[in-house]
Amino acid sequence: MEQVIRTKIKDLLKAEAGKEVLAKGWVRTKRGNKNVAFIALNDGSTINNIQIVVDKTPENEAVLAKVTTGACIAVKGMLVESMGGGQATEIQATEIEVYGECDPVRYPLQKKDTSFEFLRTVAHLRPRTNTFGAIYRVRSKMAYAIHQFFNEKGFVYVHTPLITASDCEGAGQMFRVTTLDMENLPRNKKGGIDYTKDFFGKETSLTVSGQLEGELGAMALGDIYTFGPTFRAENSNTPRHLAEFWMIEPEMAFYDIKDNMDLAEEFIKYLVKYALDNCYDDIKFLNDRYDNELLERLEGVADTEFVRLTYTEGIKILEAAGVEWEYPVSWGTDLQSEHERYLVEKHFKKPVILTDYPKDIKAFYMKQNEDGKTVRAMDVLFPKIGEIIGGSEREASLQKLEARIEETGMSRKGLEWYLDTRRFGSAPHSGFGLGFERLLLFVTGMSNIRDVIPFPRTPKNAEY
Ligand code: 4AD
Ligand code: MG
Repeated sequence: MEQVIRTKIKDLLKAEAGKEVLAKGWVRTKRGNKNVAFIALNDGSTINNIQIVVDKTPENEAVLAKVTTGACIAVKGMLVESMGGGQATEIQATEIEVYGECDPVRYPLQKKDTSFEFLRTVAHLRPRTNTFGAIYRVRSKMAYAIHQFFNEKGFVYVHTPLITASDCEGAGQMFRVTTLDMENLPRNKKGGIDYTKDFFGKETSLTVSGQLEGELGAMALGDIYTFGPTFRAENSNTPRHLAEFWMIEPEMAFYDIKDNMDLAEEFIKYLVKYALDNCYDDIKFLNDRYDNELLERLEGVADTEFVRLTYTEGIKILEAAGVEWEYPVSWGTDLQSEHERYLVEKHFKKPVILTDYPKDIKAFYMKQNEDGKTVRAMDVLFPKIGEIIGGSEREASLQKLEARIEETGMSRKGLEWYLDTRRFGSAPHSGFGLGFERLLLFVTGMSNIRDVIPFPRTPKNAEY
């Protein structure tokens, strides 16, 4: 069987007929008539299957019996022009080896239930479906595009720690990291837990954001970005929240809020365009199968100017909308996804960048405006998703930052290293965080964030 080199199906589908080939993959379907069997084979290299034609001779009977949906096989044969419609070429099989049989009774990916809810219960097998194969490939391409974008711009990729002792967003939604014995916790004199006995000698958690360490990088290297997993113990069981998600966080010295918005807009457009140029087959499949406005939406965003307005202007629009909100809205309230989506989908019908939020609903590090009430925050709001990016110009003044830390009641003790950036050669700077899975929701048209990450972590769920 070996002799001929295995070719990936993606390349076989583009190859010219008339030569002997070897394909390997998993059987999607098998059908046929009295004389021949048609096998649709997929190896994950493309959404498209290659058709294998096998003569139903007595010699082939035994092997064909083992070729069932989900089985893994190797096929040698001639690549020939296909006589049927639907494909240009197919393999006329001369030899089939079954690597792994697949029990047709027990295999969960049968035609009967293909709902996303069901597929989440078999997340270890769902990449074998067309839909999840497409999503995994798009996810991988998008990760590559992100590195390419920043690399082309001369940004330095900084690896920020996942285990940390500081709460960047100050929201207290952190997962504790400890090696203490939960059944027998060491106590200090006051009866509290003695964290000096813990692995790191202090309380530590999984990071909610790499930003604070990213800022250290920007204050030395100029333009940096991080791209890694972040963790939030928020009990939000929504189609847009994960407890473990990936975030891209660029941080730029000498950028003000306007430069920051420009970069965010250019970045998202670059990624959407990259997806259209490099993942077309997969996106077309998702478009045709689930959401026939997907391609249109992506093309629309790639050449639309985003609307920019302040939170205060946004609130006025929402108050005048005459909508019965589930969460009432007035100046000072945090926007819910219903409000964000109203602005984007109903009012402007375009992505919106909202700026200058009330300081009390934003994190401590944001640059304070002259009015004493708002900060130079920016959220990028997208159709169907709501907030896709959150960022800001950073407070560069040591005094103002210290005052804000005090005001918010945060502990300064663990933040002295961060304050050093303002103490020693402080500079105006800005940055933002793009939620990778929120981007993927937009690019794939999926409506639940659990379906754009291979193994979702959500409240009460950490399977696999
Ligand atoms: O708005 P957030 O909380 O901002 C930060 O963490 C800043 N430190 C970023 C920065 O300025 N460097 O989160 C940024 C983005 C959100 O806009 C959203 O896309 C995503 O991260 N995000 C989540 N994605 C999935 N699940 C969650 N629970 C998320 N929380 C935030
Ligand atoms: Mg945010």
